[in-house]
Amino acid sequence: MSSRQVPRHTRAGIFIHWFNAACWFFLLVTGVALISNPELNPLGAWYPKAVRAIFFGGENLLVAHWLVAFIWLAVWLVYLFWGMNRLVAPFINSIFTIEPNRDIQWMIKKNLQMTVGYKMMARLVKPLGYDGTMPDQGYYNVGQKLAAQGLIIGGLALVGTGFIMFTSKYFLTAADVWLVQWSITVHFIAAGVTTALLILHIYMAAISSEERPAFISMFTGTVPAEYAKHHHRLWYDELEDSKPSEVG
Ligand code: HEM
Repeated sequence: MSSRQVPRHTRAGIFIHWFNAACWFFLLVTGVALISNPELNPLGAWYPKAVRAIFFGGENLLVAHWLVAFIWLAVWLVYLFWGMNRLVAPFINSIFTIEPNRDIQWMIKKNLQMTVGYKMMARLVKPLGYDGTMPDQGYYNVGQKLAAQGLIIGGLALVGTGFIMFTSKYFLTAADVWLVQWSITVHFIAAGVTTALLILHIYMAAISSEERPAFISMFTGTVPAEYAKHHHRLWYDELEDSKPSEVG
């Protein structure tokens, strides 16, 4: 494989990504410990007890959870304001652009290829009128796009419902109890869905060897040109057409 590298992530993009990962991990660890009912807590009674002890009590744990959530939100607001045109708008545009014919075919083939291998995938997709080649993908493949869409929608639901729960401590009246109860339910569901997506995301990004160059790029900012060509052909062609500045 040639060692020529092409740029993939900006420094700001890498920063916000690992900042997200750190905040998400902290919020998940503390959030699950806030569920004191052992019948509802997926880890039972020992886990909230242990984490509450580390934070010297449930009240401190809740404050730490809120604090990190507010820091996360504040950094995101700055990032949105500062990077809207250069980083955020192109990202949103990219992940919400789907081409059904090409992308449904890619999803079917990719799932089969990962479970039964290339040869068997080629055989199984024949009756659908497909051949064994993977349709070309852009900067993100459609699996990454769907995961990112879910994470954004789930993240917005977590922020909105978290905010209602936080204000309920100080401002909401008894008449708003239903709103708080729904917020708790939606917050749990959104946390569950985003966690499931992130387990998939982390597996694909950090454990699957096929995606190892993408994992390294989340530190270095660049990927081998060969990797870009094979995994993100449409993006690679755009890069070649625009004769980008290359590294390496
Ligand atoms: C240990 C945890 C994580 C690992 C190892 C990881 C790894 C990666 C890698 C390697 C990429 C680049 C994929 C590519 O270039 O095609 C990526 C992109 C992305 N990750 Fe993660 N990630 C982690 C946690 C998270 C978390 C917690 C979030 C969200 C809360 C997240 C959201 C995203 C998004 C939205 C992208 C696409 C944006 C971009 O390419 O800059 N990741 N991740």
